[in-house]
Amino acid sequence: MTEAVLVVGSANADLVVAAERRPAGGETVLGGDTQILPGGKGANTAVAAARLGADVALIGAVGDDAHGRLLLDSLRGSGVGTDRVRIVDRPTGAAYITVTPDGENSILVSPGANHALAPADVAEPAGARVLVASLEVPLDVVEHAIAETSREGVRTVLNLSPTAKLSDETLQALDVLVVNEHEAAWLLGTDSSDGQDNGGTGAGADNAADGARLLDLGPDAVVITRGPDGATVLTRGGAGGVDEVMVPSPQVTAVDTTGAGDAFTGALVTWLASGATVSDAARRAVDVAAVSVTKHGAQPSYPLLDELS
Ligand code: RIB
Ligand code: NA
Repeated sequence: MTEAVLVVGSANADLVVAAERRPAGGETVLGGDTQILPGGKGANTAVAAARLGADVALIGAVGDDAHGRLLLDSLRGSGVGTDRVRIVDRPTGAAYITVTPDGENSILVSPGANHALAPADVAEPAGARVLVASLEVPLDVVEHAIAETSREGVRTVLNLSPTAKLSDETLQALDVLVVNEHEAAWLLGTDSSDGQDNGGTGAGADNAADGARLLDLGPDAVVITRGPDGATVLTRGGAGGVDEVMVPSPQVTAVDTTGAGDAFTGALVTWLASGATVSDAARRAVDVAAVSVTKHGAQPSYPLLDELS
């Protein structure tokens, strides 16, 4: 049987150290004890969706090592199907994460096994209702998955994190593109950085003209996540205009924003798979992301459906 939600993406062991501040080049900073937690954008998205009750499987790769077993345990413990997680001859992906007292994080990723994923791994998506991908796996895998699934009439969602130069065909095949403000600015060419920031606020698509330009790239809907400010959903309106729906976030005290975007995406696809509109799905997703930032870690912080108010 094929699950309703197929996730294509990474599984990483998150090696997390809390520190007063992040070290500058050439500097040594002492932090707290290392915590090893299950993470990776693909596995995070899958776990978030499964905890909310979605029928979900991950297409990914881990190594034959302790980190790989940690990831498989977390996936299975949350009810994610792992038949399509390959065990390969490379170390499991690792993310070296510094978390500062404001809840902000910075992440260095060693992709390892995630980069052993190949286009052949994403064959046969038929039967799924939604395919969701993110980009800590090779770009050709993601592009192949989106091309195959959109041809089968499966809804496709892409979290453009980290940023990557997508082909026009991929952008046009996409149903929903999810970006944070930095990634949106990167897509619009208004941000000179690499767009890989995972949180916080910054320059972004703030007006209708920017929204129209994002939709002109090809997706049917664009969702811009704005951290504590919630999310904006952009779709085509009548007469070539843009419909913009602002979705506010509940106000919470953030202790760790790591994986909040993945929680958002996992929730979004859960409600999309059950037939919700993009705006309604985004309303549920901001609540899920808000819960996730109040707890440490990525996967360990994701709520069960009945923990939502
Ligand atoms: O999006 C958060 C994730 O990014 C972390 O879990 C880490 O593994 C990196 O992939
Ligand atoms: Na968290």
